[in-house]
Amino acid sequence: MADDHKKEIDQLSGTETTGHEWDGIQELNNPMPRWWLWTFFVCILVAICYWILFPAWPIPGGNTKGMLGWTKYNRLAEQLADAQGKQEVFFKQIAEWPIEKIPGDPKLYAFAVAAGQAAFKSNCVMCHGLDASGQGRYPNLNDDDWLWGEGTLADIQQTITHGIRTDDPKTRFSEMPAFGKQGVLKPEQISKTADFVISLAKKPDWNSEAGKIFKDQCVSCHGMEGKGDRKVGVPNLADAIWLYGGDKESIVYTITNARNNVMPNWNARLDPNTIKALAVYVHSLGGGK
Ligand code: HEC
Ligand code: HEC
Repeated sequence: MADDHKKEIDQLSGTETTGHEWDGIQELNNPMPRWWLWTFFVCILVAICYWILFPAWPIPGGNTKGMLGWTKYNRLAEQLADAQGKQEVFFKQIAEWPIEKIPGDPKLYAFAVAAGQAAFKSNCVMCHGLDASGQGRYPNLNDDDWLWGEGTLADIQQTITHGIRTDDPKTRFSEMPAFGKQGVLKPEQISKTADFVISLAKKPDWNSEAGKIFKDQCVSCHGMEGKGDRKVGVPNLADAIWLYGGDKESIVYTITNARNNVMPNWNARLDPNTIKALAVYVHSLGGGK
């Protein structure tokens, strides 16, 4: 039919029809708009260029690679290198600055806290706990109660670097004698001394037998009022904070056997800048001076 149909003109619009007709409705023969056609051709061209330049078609054993050699892995590697470059700038600054100056620069400080927190998660949580609040015989690092030093950045840095009771020559060291095991005190004396230690926070009777034992055996390290000495990691016995438990049984055990726990020296495992960041992080937890 299409061959022998002559030009038919639609009466209303004056446009040529295609000759197709459904129930009296005729199809007008309007050409595609130019802009539409051109957009269509450009899309095809772009698609072909894309196939040539980028990975596109699945083929046996993988896909077409594209001439640019672009992959998501390359892109990721670039981004990682970029991030590393930025980190290096910060770490260089951490290396050069004295630790006390770091909190003065908000950007560097934020970076050091974040880097320290990351290192804390991978190295310290098994002993000090996820939130650094300590557990069992491992001290809480959030509070203002320090065993060693005054909680300054330098104190914390020193503790982390050289450890406590390690074989590092600069380690923090002190040793409570095992009064029971070494036979210095008898079990009844230890029991009374433990009661006396518990009474330190209230009203200790210094003239009792245990009071005298404490004066003879303990004040040399724990001080005249049992308040300890942070220079040598001797804990305060007159406060409510206990590392090994404040109940009588725990205190008897401590006096009998001593504890003398070890905190590893991290200079053996971590670089000095990571340790500096760790000190800044621990200091930021709220207990630092
Ligand atoms: C193997 C367990 C262990 C690990 C791991 C560990 N610590 Fe410790 N840490 C200890 C012990 C035990 C003490 C308390 C030592 C004492 O009795 O004086 C301590 C004490 C400390 C102190 C001193 C607290 C005070 O009151 O003076 C700081 C600071 C500290 N640790 C930071 C860290 C950081 C940072 C890490 C990770 C790089 C870490 N620790 C990993 C066991 C550990
Ligand atoms: C040579 C120093 C020294 C002497 C003497 C000494 N202590 Fe200690 N004491 C320490 C040190 C150091 C620690 C912390 C040990 C640790 O962290 O593992 C400690 C810890 C303790 C603790 C545990 C505190 C806690 O927070 O859990 C108790 C209790 C204690 N001493 C009681 C005594 C009593 C009682 C005497 C005397 C009979 C005594 N000490 C004598 C150095 C000493």
